[in-house]
Amino acid sequence: MSQIAEEVAINLGERSYSIVIGGGLLADPASYDGLPHAANALIVSNTTVAPLYAARLRAALCGRYALIHEIQLPDGEEHKNWQTLQSIFDVLLERGCDRKTVLFALGGGVVGDMTGFAAASYMRGVPFVQVPTTLLAQVDSSVGGKTGINHPLGKNMVGAFYQPQRVICDLDVLGTLPAREFSAGLAEIIKYGPIADLEFFVWLEQHMDDLIAQERSALVHAVRRSCEIKASVVGKDERESGLRAILNFGHTFGHAIEAGMGYGAWLHGEGVGAGMVMAAELSRRLGLVNESFVGRLRGLIHRAGLPTLAPLLDDQDNAGRYLQLMRLDKKSEAGEIKFVVVEGSGKAMLHSAPDDLVRDVINACCR
Ligand code: NAD
Ligand code: GLY
Repeated sequence: MSQIAEEVAINLGERSYSIVIGGGLLADPASYDGLPHAANALIVSNTTVAPLYAARLRAALCGRYALIHEIQLPDGEEHKNWQTLQSIFDVLLERGCDRKTVLFALGGGVVGDMTGFAAASYMRGVPFVQVPTTLLAQVDSSVGGKTGINHPLGKNMVGAFYQPQRVICDLDVLGTLPAREFSAGLAEIIKYGPIADLEFFVWLEQHMDDLIAQERSALVHAVRRSCEIKASVVGKDERESGLRAILNFGHTFGHAIEAGMGYGAWLHGEGVGAGMVMAAELSRRLGLVNESFVGRLRGLIHRAGLPTLAPLLDDQDNAGRYLQLMRLDKKSEAGEIKFVVVEGSGKAMLHSAPDDLVRDVINACCR
């Protein structure tokens, strides 16, 4: 690769691949060296990202694939559904794309999750490459092979584990990302500290202002360390039979916020921000962390530009509404909610809790 880039390996046997992190990668043909040969490639993007970056990606791929097709999906979480997925299959079939066709996901987590699922199922599986363009996608969703779409009754309820061939994180593209979306990505970066690396948590406390300013060396470190932690967890538990669930720190409360407010009102990262404060408060009430740890985490989340207070979801029985939504979480077993709690030493685990205790946490953490 001609650019100076950092590389993180995901070790999954024959499904191993690398995450490449740096500047100028998207437009550099060398970023795509060594990918599977094929006659056809399909760039899957959306109506916001394609006008910004699809031409650069196409130019970089030109010469490698005889035919480069493109589809622009409608932008938004509300389009992460069967109908949009079907439109990807429509293009693949209409253009006669064979089972060697390589799909390129150019966009945030919505495009990445849908492209991955399309790749997992088209002709029972074709290769795909993640070119994530949001901070959230670069540090989380493009890595680890969770792909899928939403069902009207639940988020990410239909999907597959399917690993990409490579993840190409070009930090230059973050320059066009709206500030609110950048902060949402910071939530997923922050989560890696309490669950896996207390030193990284301290580093984030020291460098949050640099990250907000998109200072390059800070950004490289944060994206690389996040990817390393995720790679390590996924390498041990690809299909979430246990350990991988810790990556959902703050997500049980966060998903309830997203669903309860109506998808799109709160960004995923915003729900995770307030949700991490709630999960830390639950950890404190279970005797796992002290008040000071919760305060530090709350302070960091606030400095990242994220909400630290959760919204009211119901005027009559707010805690009851949260509990009702959280029972739908994929980690719930026989109606028992499993929370990711932290120990304050850079470790996390799954824990159930009595409803009364959870109600107290919700009451203490809502506006
Ligand atoms: P997103 O894909 O909706 O992107 C956010 C917004 O930013 C969109 O409007 C998008 O068009 C725009 N955008 C993207 N890149 C841009 C750029 N460089 N410049 C300007 N605008 C740009 O949201 P997201 O936060 O990236 O991803 C959220 C999704 O990811 C959710 O559907 C969530 O379920 C999923 N997710 C998946 C995993 C996983 O492991 N697969 C993990 C976390 C989240
Ligand atoms: N974002 C959680 C996971 O990939 O498992």
